[in-house]
Amino acid sequence: MIRSVVIGCGAYLPENIVTNADLEKTVDTSDEWIIQRTGIKQRHIAGEGETTADLGEKAARAALANAGVEIADIDLIILATSTPDNTFPATAVEIQHRLGMKHGAAFDMQAVCSGFVFALTTADLYIRGGQAHKVLVIGAETFSRILDWEDRTTCVLFGDGAGAVVLEAQEGVGLTADRGILSSHLRSDGSHKSKLFVDGGPSSTGTVGHLRMQGREVFKHAVGMITDVIVAAFDATGLNADTIDWFVPHQANKRIIDASARKLKIPPEKVVITVDQHGNTSAASIPLALAQAVADGRINQGDIILLEAMGGGFTWGSVLLRW
Ligand code: UT7
Repeated sequence: MIRSVVIGCGAYLPENIVTNADLEKTVDTSDEWIIQRTGIKQRHIAGEGETTADLGEKAARAALANAGVEIADIDLIILATSTPDNTFPATAVEIQHRLGMKHGAAFDMQAVCSGFVFALTTADLYIRGGQAHKVLVIGAETFSRILDWEDRTTCVLFGDGAGAVVLEAQEGVGLTADRGILSSHLRSDGSHKSKLFVDGGPSSTGTVGHLRMQGREVFKHAVGMITDVIVAAFDATGLNADTIDWFVPHQANKRIIDASARKLKIPPEKVVITVDQHGNTSAASIPLALAQAVADGRINQGDIILLEAMGGGFTWGSVLLRW
């Protein structure tokens, strides 16, 4: 059977770093509160005029170089983002243009913080359906643009950045010994909209709007939803907390990650954490964490990697793969 194998990854973070101490000067918060409640120490914020396409393009180029693949070999680009440059066209098409790709197709996918897991699953279906051989999957966000910088309950939590992977169709035998995506489980439930949303949009207000969140309410649902889709992945594959090598969760809050890992009995030394350095970069957080763990030598070919995310919608999902 055909498997979608990750053959390269890359990332890009804006140069400008904003620390908790910097935020203490603009809103009524403290380094101590932010670290204790979230684990976040700093976040990268896009420079003036620096857009999601700018970040996504740089991450895409890094992933292509890491994979040793030319843009001519890519059939499809999927960009997971909730902060596109324009209402339309899709930012993926802008990135496609900048990369010099005139063939194939590119589109955006919007599932907020779960965007990368949704995009990876979609790319896997294109590959296994025979519609694409190599797919570039990007997660890129400039959440700094939709934050209310006077709202201390949200502005301290998010950051900007981008990550990308290249997926390639390879033959597998249908067992978990195969490299590539082994299972994916996606979920959504619109009844939770009011807990995490942006209060603007083209067809409602005609404005971009700002992110609004009832943090405690999101937190209450997060661990249960995350662990449900991971248990579904374990049930589907026969793998478990002992047989995975790395848990690379969406990076929203260290307390949510720790609680999820504890519930699943995944030991802390198998968990990749970047939320302290990046904050919550929404759809970019998983590929940013993957790129970091590959670059520092933790993730190696053949490792079993467990990805999960949960976010606005609510949306949530898991992907289990062999690197
Ligand atoms: O990407 C997926 C979506 N997002 C998430 O997963 C986020 C999920 N939620 C969370 O991570 C947490 O709920 C937060 C980090 C947002 C908040 O942590 P919490 O422990 O749930 O705090 P809380 O909302 O219950 O607030 C506790 C107190 C409140 O004061 P009172 O009412 O107890 O007097 C807040 O007003 O902390 C106050 N507070 C702050 N204090 C200092 C809220 N934000 C801040 C702040 N600095 N930035």
